[in-house]
Amino acid sequence: MRNKLIVGNWKMHGSRPANAELLSGILAARPFAADVAVCVPFPYLFEAAATLAASEIRWGAQDCSAHDQGAYTGEVSAQMLAECGCRYALVGHSERRAYHHESDALVAEKAKLLLARGVTPIVCVGETLAERDAGQTEDVVKRQLSVVIHALAHCASEIVVAYEPVWAIGTGRTATPEQAQQVHAVLRAQLQAATGHGERMKILYGGSVKADNAATLFAMPDIDGGLIGGASLKAADFVAICRAAA
Ligand code: 13P
Repeated sequence: MRNKLIVGNWKMHGSRPANAELLSGILAARPFAADVAVCVPFPYLFEAAATLAASEIRWGAQDCSAHDQGAYTGEVSAQMLAECGCRYALVGHSERRAYHHESDALVAEKAKLLLARGVTPIVCVGETLAERDAGQTEDVVKRQLSVVIHALAHCASEIVVAYEPVWAIGTGRTATPEQAQQVHAVLRAQLQAATGHGERMKILYGGSVKADNAATLFAMPDIDGGLIGGASLKAADFVAICRAAA
């Protein structure tokens, strides 16, 4: 039985006072039946660590460098994230693929470096609206995931996968539970075929998850929780989603 996992992706939001209020609201609402984590902007990692360390809430980053160390101005390495106590780091979020032209191979390299440092990569995959309309959804997500699986080889079973249809991110247009389930089942079959451990791996759904649609999404057999953007920025909203993952 896979325990549900709810991850807040704060994106480029927050401030020290706002973060303190948000985290204390989440802490006050414990315990949760689901595993819960927040992926915060880099400068806030140490403060999140200090605030959350005594709890079972985990923290993580939203990206990492594809290089181990060296003259890469502005980059943050997997080792640095490990030193900040990160349990997770997102890789291949569609905003990074779109705005920073990240390729499947680059995403795979990041995932590899994270695993080598003991940080679990949450590998994001998802199709654009044009790709969905062209009937390419399954081909696109399978291609994105297969590059990571091949790069990681026997370690591939250690990742978390997040299916985030690009057309559902920040748009208020959620995939229906059935649409999401269909893709999750395809991804799980791919993970099972490649690693033999697909049944125990977590596949999260992301894209306009809110308190009022979370429970029906999380009730689907292959949806193991959520990657939450906008609704992770207010404690009451995020807590309601965490509680929906019972
Ligand atoms: P929203 O929940 O704001 O649609 O964002 C989803 C997302 O991109 C999480 O990574």
